[in-house]
Amino acid sequence: MADQPKPLRIGLAGLGNVGAGVYKNLLKNRSLLQERTGRAMEIRKVAVRNPSKPRTVAVPDELLTANLDDLIEDGEIDIIVELIGGIDQAFTLVKSALERKKIVVTGNKALLAEHGKELFALAEKQKTPIYFEAAVAGGIPIIKTVQESLVGNRIDSMIGIINGTSNYILTRMAEEGLDYPEALKEAQDLGYAEADPALDVNGWDAAHKAIILASLSYGFWLRAEDIYVEGIQDVSLVDILFADSLGYTIKLLAVIRLDESGGIEVRVQPSLISNGHILASVNGVFNAILVNGDVVGETLFYGSGAGQDPTSSSVISDLADAAARLGDCGGRRTGFVPHGLYGQPVAIDDTVSEYYLRLQVADNPGVLAQIATVLGNLDIGISSMIQPEEHEEGIAPIVLMLHYATFGRMKEALRQIADLDCVRAQPVLMRVESL
Ligand SMILES: NC(=O)c1ccc[n+]([C@@H]2O[C@H](COP(=O)([O-])OP(=O)(O)OC[C@H]3O[C@@H](n4cnc5c(N)ncnc54)[C@H](OP(=O)(O)O)[C@@H]3O)[C@@H](O)[C@H]2O)c1
Repeated sequence: MADQPKPLRIGLAGLGNVGAGVYKNLLKNRSLLQERTGRAMEIRKVAVRNPSKPRTVAVPDELLTANLDDLIEDGEIDIIVELIGGIDQAFTLVKSALERKKIVVTGNKALLAEHGKELFALAEKQKTPIYFEAAVAGGIPIIKTVQESLVGNRIDSMIGIINGTSNYILTRMAEEGLDYPEALKEAQDLGYAEADPALDVNGWDAAHKAIILASLSYGFWLRAEDIYVEGIQDVSLVDILFADSLGYTIKLLAVIRLDESGGIEVRVQPSLISNGHILASVNGVFNAILVNGDVVGETLFYGSGAGQDPTSSSVISDLADAAARLGDCGGRRTGFVPHGLYGQPVAIDDTVSEYYLRLQVADNPGVLAQIATVLGNLDIGISSMIQPEEHEEGIAPIVLMLHYATFGRMKEALRQIADLDCVRAQPVLMRVESL
């Protein structure tokens, strides 16, 4: 009988939400995985912060350690699965693993967004791959899709709803008429938002994922300062209702787009999309990414963007890749292939879209003319306007839908409009994304 291939020996760092899912599901589908990959998968050590904490999975005591170095120092371990989160300790762990030529699997988008360039250069030097399917959109296999299935395409755009917590909050505001604090509280009570939900609602969780997707698509590592990020904290129920009456839904969109001159636009913003577009019906904690390739055309990927089982499905798929390539990664992809064929990031002020503008103005004659003058002087056209009849004494809301203009010109218009005496509250501006 032929020798059985050696099992894949795993050092698991982190046994939290995702780590426990990986442990549980590796056991659950153990024989299926062995059949499919040709190798057994064996967890040799599990690092946690507190080994005596009660767990949802029964891990033998002798596997547990509180010392991440134990995973690195164990010469039998082939693969480090980094699921501790955070940046500094995760960076040290991943770097040490690559230095010892241990393959890395990680779900840590913040780590890759911040240190991807350096880590992938090290992976290349060490001929040791980093796999990171779980870092973007949880259970949706978008990383392998871009790297493998769409390898023959120039990526023209990716438009994603890639933060489940924000999407849940916006969905509940739209469906139930909750205001932002109520919807956030509900998301926290249901465990969708962290006790500190900052990165989810301020747009940066989606931005970290957008940096990874844009970097993969365009072959050079983008820096956080190259992209523009706004969260959903200032989206109010009144804007959701106005948008709906105009036929739009507000979503937190990550937009990655190649422009005609070869520049790359990357931004995360609450944006209006037509109610008829398929992304408008991506609700609750679900994620979706619309990818346009020059050969394939439009494709849509939809699924659970987070959670224990969906995310561990992605981690396990990376382990299966690692099992197939172990010992044979010389000359093969080590996680990121630089090519840089498609230009430079586009400055946010040069990006172009239509806009939604809501103002609170003095209920006097001539007000609209003053606003139209500011817009006209900056060559920004008005495509439609609504002014509800019911409003507070002396103050009238106006909603303007504006034609295509650069964000730079729009910001200047906003500055001038906010300075008008007749404008009584901070204007609300959102992009209208034509998809
Ligand atoms: N949650 C999701 O749905 C999801 C989806 C996609 C990607 N991710 C990413 O996956 C990673 C893990 O997320 P999570 O939700 O599973 O986090 P989590 O529930 O907070 O778990 C973190 C785990 O890491 C351990 N840990 C933290 N620092 C450590 C250290 N210095 N040494 C040893 N162990 C340490 C903790 O130990 P104790 O248990 O002892 O405290 C805990 O088991 C993050 O990068 C996250 O962005 C998560």
